[in-house]
Amino acid sequence: MTDTQTRSNAEWAWDAFDSDLYFKHNYDSVRRADAEILDHLGRFFSSAQPRRHGLAIDVGTGTNLYPSLSMLPWADRVTLFERARTNRAWLARQQASPSPSWAEFTARLRAGRPAYDVIADPSTAISDRTEIVAGNVFTLPQNGAFDMGTMFFVAESITQNRHEFERATRNFVGSLKRSAPFVAAFMKESQGYKVGTLEFPALAVDENDIERCLAGLTHNVNLHTVDDTTLRDGYKGMIVVTGFAGRGSASHRK
Ligand SMILES: C[S@@+](CC[C@H](N)C(=O)[O-])C[C@H]1O[C@@H](n2cnc3c(N)ncnc32)[C@H](O)[C@@H]1O
Repeated sequence: MTDTQTRSNAEWAWDAFDSDLYFKHNYDSVRRADAEILDHLGRFFSSAQPRRHGLAIDVGTGTNLYPSLSMLPWADRVTLFERARTNRAWLARQQASPSPSWAEFTARLRAGRPAYDVIADPSTAISDRTEIVAGNVFTLPQNGAFDMGTMFFVAESITQNRHEFERATRNFVGSLKRSAPFVAAFMKESQGYKVGTLEFPALAVDENDIERCLAGLTHNVNLHTVDDTTLRDGYKGMIVVTGFAGRGSASHRK
C-alpha cells in the first residue's frame, strides 16, 4: 500500500474506543508478554538513573497504566496523554478507583528491584500522581519538557500511514529532554485490531523500520522482540525499545 491508499489517524473513530472491552482483553491480569515487558521496563529504568522528582509522559495511554507505574519511583507526576474521550473518562474513573490488577503489574516491577517499593500501593500512586491530558501526538509540544517517557502500542497502531507512524515516534522522542530515558513498545507486523465490533488501524512495522525512525534522534537504543502471538490474530510479536533522547551512538538488538 502506498500512503495515498491508506487511512490516516484522523479517519478512525477514536472517541468510540470501547475502553472497558480493551482493558478486559488486555490488562485485567498480567499476560505472559506483559510480564516479559515489565521485566525490561523495571531493569531499564532502574539502571538508567532518571532524574528524581521529574515529569514523565505516557503517550496514548488508553487503558494501560503499567508504563506509567514503571516511571513513578522517579517522576513526581506522569502525564497521561490521550486522544480518545472514552479512554480519558475511563482513566478518570481509574484515578477514583484503580483496578486491582495494577497491584499484580506492580508486583512484577518490584521483583528484586527495591526502587519500586515506593509504589507498593499503586492505587495511591495512580490517584495522586497521574494527570490526564487531552492531546494529539501529532501536535505534542516538541519542547523537551519531560524527564522520562513511555509510549506503548501507539505510533504503529493509530494509522496505516508510514509518514504518520514516523511523525508519532519522532514527536514522542521530541517531547523529552536530551538524555531522558524512554521505553516504547510496538506491535510487530500488525494487520490492525478490533475493539468490540470496531476496527482500528495498524502499520505493519518491524525492527528495521523502528531503528530507521529513531536514528539520529536517540542514543544507546536497544531493541528486544517478545515472541508471543497469543493476544489475537494478525501480528508477529512485540518490539520493546529502550533508549535515551538526543543524538548519539548506534542501536543494539537482543
Ligand atoms: C492500541 S491503543 C494503545 C493503548 C495503550 N498504550 C496500551 O499499551 O495498550 C492506541 C492508543 O492511542 C490513542 N490514540 C489514537 N490516536 C492518537 C493520537 N493522534 N494522539 C494520541 N493518542 C492517540 C488511542 O485512543 C489509544 O488509546
